[in-house]
Amino acid sequence: MDFNVKIVKSNSEKELVLSIRKEVFIRGLNIPEHMEIDHNEDLATYVLAYIDNIPVGTARWRETKIGIKLERFAVLSEYRSNGIGQKMTKFILKNLHKSKIIYLYAQKSAIKFYEKLGFKSVGNLFEEVGIKHQKMIYIFDGK
Ligand SMILES: CC(C)(COP(=O)(O)OP(=O)(O)OC[C@H]1O[C@@H](n2cnc3c(N)ncnc32)[C@H](O)[C@@H]1OP(=O)(O)O)[C@@H](O)C(=O)NCCC(=O)NCCS
Repeated sequence: MDFNVKIVKSNSEKELVLSIRKEVFIRGLNIPEHMEIDHNEDLATYVLAYIDNIPVGTARWRETKIGIKLERFAVLSEYRSNGIGQKMTKFILKNLHKSKIIYLYAQKSAIKFYEKLGFKSVGNLFEEVGIKHQKMIYIFDGK
């Protein structure tokens, strides 16, 4: 299996990002389209993960007032548990300046996934789009 992660540069790649997000978040998790496709679309940087040239995963990051926020992690259900989410996250972390706070709002079900990648929970669970979330901060291990 040939695995690859790329930063999205073209409109056609952005269309692939949207089709994965529609499948995973809008159809899969019943998140309303107007909440999933938000006002940060053009401000964020996106990645696409490919297996054998098939686009199977995506995520994005963007600068906020407090640091860099990672979001919209999605792997098509039939390709999960193959390490794609992990490889995609490591690729993103390598591309970010560690001098800034790197954080995310994890869905409760994904907290363990992010813990394995070096994120630590801060504060209490809160609700967003009807789903329990946890703020998590990346603790850089110096590598
Ligand atoms: C969360 C998600 C992106 C993970 O992608 P993935 O490709 O399946 O993850 P990986 O295969 O890289 O898993 C890495 C590790 O995290 C663990 N893990 C992954 N998802 C997990 C989950 N939901 N709960 C607990 N552990 C999880 C895996 O078991 C694996 O552990 P290991 O290294 O000990 O084997 C994917 O499940 C997904 O798209 N979920 C639906 C959308 C979602 O919830 N996005 C996150 C929003 S915050």
